[in-house]
Amino acid sequence: MSSAAAAKRLEGKTIVITGASSGIGRSCAFEFARTAPKDLKLILTARRIDTLKEVAAEIQKEVGEGVKVLPVQLDVSKPEEVRSFVSQLPEEFRDIHVLVNNAYVYHLL
Ligand SMILES: NC(=O)c1ccc[n+]([C@@H]2O[C@H](COP(=O)([O-])OP(=O)(O)OC[C@H]3O[C@@H](n4cnc5c(N)ncnc54)[C@H](OP(=O)(O)O)[C@@H]3O)[C@@H](O)[C@H]2O)c1
Repeated sequence: MSSAAAAKRLEGKTIVITGASSGIGRSCAFEFARTAPKDLKLILTARRIDTLKEVAAEIQKEVGEGVKVLPVQLDVSKPEEVRSFVSQLPEEFRDIHVLVNNAYVYHLL
């Protein structure tokens, strides 16, 4: 797919990324922002909220105000946090189109 086609496909979308404070999740956030810099909403989640805020600021600095970035603290190992996650988002971020469920929780059975 061309970059123009990818941008068109993503424009106007709201994307949630778990584990966005480092590694693959952080890279995905930058990639989405660079692909559709004119009209995109990104919800970045992880446990380290201060790091998420830094990632959000870096993205904003690089691509500008066309991408709205919302850092949200979320521990995906806590079901009660996951359950209330969407309802606690600001209204304009609640209509989610894409989930990148990158944070991995390993449970020993
Ligand atoms: N890198 C690889 O080669 C590779 C290969 C195969 C699969 N994977 C999988 O890809 C995913 C990301 O890997 P990575 O290399 O990018 O790892 P990473 O750099 O360690 O990043 C993990 C991310 O997940 C977040 N996280 C960890 N536990 C969390 C929790 N309980 N709740 C919410 N967020 C949590 C961390 O943020 P906080 O600490 O701020 O919460 C961090 O942002 C993992 O699921 C990994 O198993 C990676």
